[in-house]
Amino acid sequence: MNKLLIIPALITFIQTASAQSDSMISGEMKNYIGYGAIISMLLLFVVVFLVLLRAFKTMARVILRLQGYTHAEITAAMEPVKKEKKTKKEDVWIKLLSLKPMSEEKSILIEHDYDGIQELDNPTPAWFMWHFYGTIAFGLCYMLIYHVFGVGQLQYDEYKTELAQADIAKKIYLSKAANRVDETTVKLVSDAATLTSGKAIFTQNCTACHGANGEGSVGPNLTDEYWLHGHKINDLFKTIKYGIAAKGMPTWEKQLSPKQISDVSNYVESLKGSKPANPKAPQGDKEVQTDNKLASK
Ligand code: HEC
Repeated sequence: MNKLLIIPALITFIQTASAQSDSMISGEMKNYIGYGAIISMLLLFVVVFLVLLRAFKTMARVILRLQGYTHAEITAAMEPVKKEKKTKKEDVWIKLLSLKPMSEEKSILIEHDYDGIQELDNPTPAWFMWHFYGTIAFGLCYMLIYHVFGVGQLQYDEYKTELAQADIAKKIYLSKAANRVDETTVKLVSDAATLTSGKAIFTQNCTACHGANGEGSVGPNLTDEYWLHGHKINDLFKTIKYGIAAKGMPTWEKQLSPKQISDVSNYVESLKGSKPANPKAPQGDKEVQTDNKLASK
């Protein structure tokens, strides 16, 4: 009985030990250590059991000899009679189904008789029984792993983990996809994240020539309705990406990622009509006031 108490004690020990060294051993590692400890405990029990069994048998023999039994008598009583080897080769099929040969059917005939129909009491085939015991063993292991020790993930947790992984993969994919944008695929958007990012890029790179609020200085006013190179989001993207080398607007293709160019283009779009102080006089053609938004999409 005392020995059985070792198992819970061992589990508690492993848990506290691994909790203390949390930073050093990963969760997975802990699981393996736990498994290993439990399996070695069980193996140890089997070995102890076998050794004890042998010891008891030897003791029994000694005691019986002292009481005057002969060696042969003791062996006959203790060792199970070994089956005689069958000389005739049994049919594999019959063996597989644990069936009795026709000649021995009489011994397994069940008494009852319904209108001349009788039953044989054939044993359940060994393969079936092994499967059956297998399911019990499987169930036991499953219960221990998933419900008692909580080592494995249950279906719902597994589902959540997979969703989280898919979420990360999706984010990575989207960030890559966002970077694949160019002047033909750029979209007009006005979400806060894009505009904040666009404003930061603008403040860092563009204010020197276009003014702190896009009112214009060396470069043209970006807040009015007059444009030299087109006002659609695709036009802005193209102007910013390739620049207008001859007129002093640098190319940004090398310094900014496609996503950044898209963000700053959208930020410039958002400046329209913001009427900053000291605006530079209009340059270029007046924007055709039809459907900028629709046309840009
Ligand atoms: C070195 C000065 C300089 C910097 C820095 C600069 N620009 Fe310009 N930008 C210009 C000039 C000059 C023009 C006018 C080109 C022309 O006359 O064709 C221009 C034109 C533009 C236009 C086209 C305006 C129109 O009327 O069609 C856009 C849009 C623009 N710039 C955006 C930006 C953005 C965004 C940045 C920052 C990433 C930036 N620029 C940085 C000088 C600059």
